[in-house]
Amino acid sequence: MALINLKDLLKHAQENKYAVGAFNITNLGFIDTIIDAAVQQRSPVILQVAEVHLRYVNLEEIAPVIISAAKKVDIPVCFHLDHGVSLQTVVRAIRAGFTSVMIDGSAHPLEENITLTKEVVRVAKSVNVSVEAEIGHVGGEAIGEVAPTAHSASKETFTKVDEAARFAGETGIDALAIAIGNVHGFYKGEPNLDFERLAQIRSAVNVPLVLHGGSGIHDDDFRKAISLGVCKINFYTEMSAGGVSRIRQYLTDKPEVTSLPDVINRGFEEVKKIVMGRMEVFGSKDMCTPDKTLCLSCSDRTCGFIDPKFTPGAKTILYTDLVDEITKVVISSMKDNPSG
Ligand code: 13P
Repeated sequence: MALINLKDLLKHAQENKYAVGAFNITNLGFIDTIIDAAVQQRSPVILQVAEVHLRYVNLEEIAPVIISAAKKVDIPVCFHLDHGVSLQTVVRAIRAGFTSVMIDGSAHPLEENITLTKEVVRVAKSVNVSVEAEIGHVGGEAIGEVAPTAHSASKETFTKVDEAARFAGETGIDALAIAIGNVHGFYKGEPNLDFERLAQIRSAVNVPLVLHGGSGIHDDDFRKAISLGVCKINFYTEMSAGGVSRIRQYLTDKPEVTSLPDVINRGFEEVKKIVMGRMEVFGSKDMCTPDKTLCLSCSDRTCGFIDPKFTPGAKTILYTDLVDEITKVVISSMKDNPSG
């Protein structure tokens, strides 16, 4: 099976200096589109569902679909909760089979963010689910029905180096989301990332760093951020807007079209292209090929990691797998002992 938690996945990315793309799922069509892109690029991938997007998808209903799609492919797939804001949502995600969660306490004062994050780490770690959290605050808006206002980052909410070190040390998180000029949604003007701050955060903090607000950032800036320790890049607005543009063009070219699935599929074709392009820039393309360390043992069509340096911890146990296992034991003991 290809499901992996964030900690194990980002360990490989950190050691091999690339970033894994984390793409938001807001509709069933994104699932196969993004997984297909990853399989074609031989790239690990993170599929994430943001709490703010639960108005588009039902967490408990979409989880089994994502898990089943992930289990069918021979690349590592991390299933992540994006911007969870409460312990309740985190627990719902863990119960539904997510392998990783983000708790975003960045709107709270530092002490409250630490307390909330520690609580989430205690719960999630007990079932080998990884935890990402945020310090400083990445502003902006995720895309809604129409394009939201473009934002520029506000310096007051940039991540402070000393706070990042304290936060990572005290909470025991597996990945840290930082604010260095990145914003969600569309950028007002050109994005201007504070690479000096990123380098300082990197030397003060050991855990892999996460860059939210990937849409609109230039390829060279991505490469530089990755060289300075970014291992996970969140990306959504550009693929959503790209899909819509493609549909608009298709309908202009072929106004006679009436087949809804064909219209929607044009949009997802564009999404796939965009995602494949990001995987190339993030350096995750071809990490699952025989000459790379991530997926050398995929010959048995399950996801394996042959790099001796890369030994994932205990595998994430899905509730459904556990039930299957227990059922097998019960049936076999009934066979051995027919009279009870
Ligand atoms: P963009 O929509 O700006 O790419 O950001 C996505 C994101 O950071 C989700 O957490």
